[in-house]
Amino acid sequence: MSSLTALDRRSFLKQSTGALVALGFAPLARADEKRPVREYRLVAGPAEIAVAPGRVWSTWAYNGQVPGPMIRATQGERIRVVLENQLEEPTTIHWHGVPLPNAMDGLPGMTQDPIAPGETFVYEFDANVPGTYFYHSHVGLQLDRGLLGPLVIDPAGPEGVADREFLLFLDDWLPTNPDDALAAMMAVTTPGMGGGMMGGGMGGGMPGASSATEPPYAGYLANGRMGTALDALAVTRGERVRVRIINGSAATTHRVGLTGHKLTVTHADGQRVAPVDVDTLVIGMGERYDIVVRMENTGAWTLLAGSVDAAVPGIALPVVYGGQQPSASPITVWPVSLAQGKTLSYAGLVPFDGRGGPSSGRVMTLTLSAGSNGAWTINGQAYPNADPLRFTLGERIRFQFRNMSMLRHPMHLHGHFFQLIDRATGRVSGPVKDTVLVEPMMGAVDVEWVADNPGRWLLHCHHAYHMEMGMMREVVVE
Ligand code: C2O
Ligand code: CU
Repeated sequence: MSSLTALDRRSFLKQSTGALVALGFAPLARADEKRPVREYRLVAGPAEIAVAPGRVWSTWAYNGQVPGPMIRATQGERIRVVLENQLEEPTTIHWHGVPLPNAMDGLPGMTQDPIAPGETFVYEFDANVPGTYFYHSHVGLQLDRGLLGPLVIDPAGPEGVADREFLLFLDDWLPTNPDDALAAMMAVTTPGMGGGMMGGGMGGGMPGASSATEPPYAGYLANGRMGTALDALAVTRGERVRVRIINGSAATTHRVGLTGHKLTVTHADGQRVAPVDVDTLVIGMGERYDIVVRMENTGAWTLLAGSVDAAVPGIALPVVYGGQQPSASPITVWPVSLAQGKTLSYAGLVPFDGRGGPSSGRVMTLTLSAGSNGAWTINGQAYPNADPLRFTLGERIRFQFRNMSMLRHPMHLHGHFFQLIDRATGRVSGPVKDTVLVEPMMGAVDVEWVADNPGRWLLHCHHAYHMEMGMMREVVVE
């Protein structure tokens, strides 16, 4: 039931402050300060979710809603979440992207005992680094049932980037049991046939792919509603609307665009970037982008999202200027103006403050592949039969992700941020993130990070099924 002792907190803050400064952060945190506490109560339990008129999804959720309630605090405050488990299996919550003490990271059997049915656990951590985050169960495939929600840490001072904000929480909707979906996916890949390379390698939402290579999704959800049953967003000419986009999907990489407008990307994984204008962006599972849209094109438009591999967006949210009616003809395919417009690339992103420097980290190559028997591997090993990656506190590391498979892998590191390396110059000058999408078929991404947060963490693909099938490593910082 307890959180950190004052002593744990003090030593964590001391350690993390040094390294955060090394990465360029200047945390407000002071160990002895008395922080205001934001307290939330979450009950994980069975729920009936109306995803569209007449369509009810019997599933598991926090406080009976998908996504769960917004957890929000201001930098310098403390977040306390009392989680009650009303499920019939154990659970935990992971605070995705938030740098926090290891004991609060929500890893069952690693940082805490799983919370048994009927039990309560209190998570408590300081809100130090502002940004858009999310939270989700870290037990099995519970995330794909709807045990997930948004978390925002507001900066202590104004950012002044927008007049108001809107949340776009993306999800893929699996009306059936995810454990059955996993079993079906594993049954497709038989030993001796190259295993997952062919069986698991051809799916990923591509039209025509064998249905057993991906869960049988019935559609996509935006803020818990089917993408075809969304209420219009009313806007006013001249305003700047910030949209916090969170991809909470278990297995779907989304494309996002708004007809008639540019998207100005201002934050990647919650961290500020030099603003860049694009027509669309691609967002992997676990990634977040904040965009600002200047509303200066009066009319009725559509905010579109959906699998990056599909011709049909799946999510169509009407955006209408005051007095207008939503467009009568619903969009059925991605409009050419967006499909052929400028799309966001990591190479186009740099930190807002221009931070960067030469790469000096210990090089570690992480090869992502399909193994046999449906497994997904990092350097040939499938978790849990995989060696932990060990680092010394304060060590600087360069991860070289190399994707030898035919599917995308959004790789997520717990407890730390990393900064992308510009592979053309070799400099650590890209965006600061915690999840990075590694493209299929020889896709390569290099990132650098400082192991500044002691404990037992995880590095894994945020495709929930790849993770379950082994694409994960324990990361030990000591
Ligand atoms: Cu959001 Cu271990 O992940
Ligand atoms: Cu993956």
